[in-house]
Amino acid sequence: TPPIIRTLAELRAETIQWLRAGEKIGVVPTMGALHDGHLSLVQAAKERCDRVIVTIFVNPKQFNNPADLENYPRTEKDDARKLARFNVDAVYVPDGDQMYPERFATTVSVDGLTDVMEGTHRPGHFDGVATVVSKLFLQTMASDAFFGEKDFQQLLVVRRMARDLDIPITVHGCPTIREIDGLAMSSRNLLLSDRARVTAPRLFEEMEGLAEGVAKGEAFGPLQSAAIKRLETAGFTKVEYLEMRAQDDLSYLEKPTRPARLFAAAHLAGVRLIDNIAIGD
Ligand code: PAJ
Repeated sequence: TPPIIRTLAELRAETIQWLRAGEKIGVVPTMGALHDGHLSLVQAAKERCDRVIVTIFVNPKQFNNPADLENYPRTEKDDARKLARFNVDAVYVPDGDQMYPERFATTVSVDGLTDVMEGTHRPGHFDGVATVVSKLFLQTMASDAFFGEKDFQQLLVVRRMARDLDIPITVHGCPTIREIDGLAMSSRNLLLSDRARVTAPRLFEEMEGLAEGVAKGEAFGPLQSAAIKRLETAGFTKVEYLEMRAQDDLSYLEKPTRPARLFAAAHLAGVRLIDNIAIGD
């Protein structure tokens, strides 16, 4: 299994040597409970970088709901085992005090992109993400970072943050990995009951239907209402949003006049699922 590093001092001791040798460092930030979606990012990092650091930290600052933080799956041993076959150079697993020592007082906050969707439904979430990810970028001194399109809004927020703060890192977006029935892989899928797991792929199915209709020129509104109704009938308790937005700045679209994506968040049996897909192609 790969070397597990728990302190910033040990991490820096490694990375400084790698940088001296002129090696390119890639980082894959995660909260653990690794699945094939995470591993596809690790693979992408291995292909582009000389050294790969996977970080595992369940970041309390980005959880707006205490029960969600409490229930978040923690599977460090399995995670280390899954990373073994990728030959990663380090798994960085800081504890809470490493990340947020006493008197920690700084928040990184990104405007604009966070005014919609996850930003409005999860107050404080993106401040927590932007803060921890800036720390991880600076701690690892990576030149390349790998994020999933599964969390498309997060990908844009992180890219904006790195540019605005002049952190010299390239943020790569990687495609969403799905189960064979279409459900986007997510650590939270582990929390679905057997029954809810059968219903869960309906979200992606409805989004695909909607994307297809819109791409053919049908009006968004009626398709959207019908899809939400069907999801509620299928057992989703709340569809928080199901909307079409521009791929580059997330502005709201009624028609896909620019490169667009469909975004959704919905609750199923106590689990909050999110997904997004491109319109067209
Ligand atoms: P986590 O949910 O563990 O996700 C870590 C990375 O894996 C993110 O970039 C996410 O978009 C990507 N990912 C998750 N599911 C995926 C899938 N099915 N296909 C492709 N990529 C997928 O996102 C976070 O952690 C945290 O917010 C973090 C960035 C680590 C900051 O704490």
